[in-house]
Amino acid sequence: MKFAYRLLHPKVVFLLVTKHQNKTNVMTLAWSMPVEYDTIAIAISRENYSYELLSKSKEFTLNVLPIEKLDIIWKAGTTSGREIDKIKKLGIELEEGVKIKIPHIKIAMAFLECKIEKEIKTKNHSLIIAKIVHAWADEKVFKDTWLEGCSVPMHVGKKFFTTNLKYFEPK
Ligand SMILES: Cc1cc2nc3c(=O)[nH]c(=O)nc-3n(C[C@H](O)[C@H](O)[C@H](O)COP(=O)(O)O)c2cc1C
Repeated sequence: MKFAYRLLHPKVVFLLVTKHQNKTNVMTLAWSMPVEYDTIAIAISRENYSYELLSKSKEFTLNVLPIEKLDIIWKAGTTSGREIDKIKKLGIELEEGVKIKIPHIKIAMAFLECKIEKEIKTKNHSLIIAKIVHAWADEKVFKDTWLEGCSVPMHVGKKFFTTNLKYFEPK
């Protein structure tokens, strides 16, 4: 039972960028899903510093870095912005938001700008339902879907990651 949730993996891995006043943070996030074509949900632990920032600003960005940046992805998901300045330490360059006040990551292959609409609290996590107010993807890797073999990082569980190497089509 302990690992039943991993039956839902692999899941696309994002870097969640949050900001409130002069504090900006980044953390790794794999628990996300669409709930409407323009609305998504993320699950975030209320112990995370990122939760503190996004519950104040009510906005965030989700960024997809290529699998080649796995070391950054791993470190952003295993250290806390409460103890270190991850943006500085990981050498993450940010760009100003388009429709919101939260920045996105310069080297991202795609990013979503989101505004929080609703929060549902479960035991340790909050399900954050948010409207996508702006989206961008590099057309070299995304047309109307991610292109085959374009290095989208997906979390399998533990320290294992995979990517979208091969696609299959029904007859
Ligand atoms: C691959 C991976 C996926 C993760 N997915 C989530 C997630 O979906 N939700 C969550 O609350 N934490 C997730 N985490 C854990 C947070 O990234 C981690 O607790 C981080 O240190 C929080 O940083 P912060 O305190 O700076 O916000 C994930 C970690 C990794 C390595």
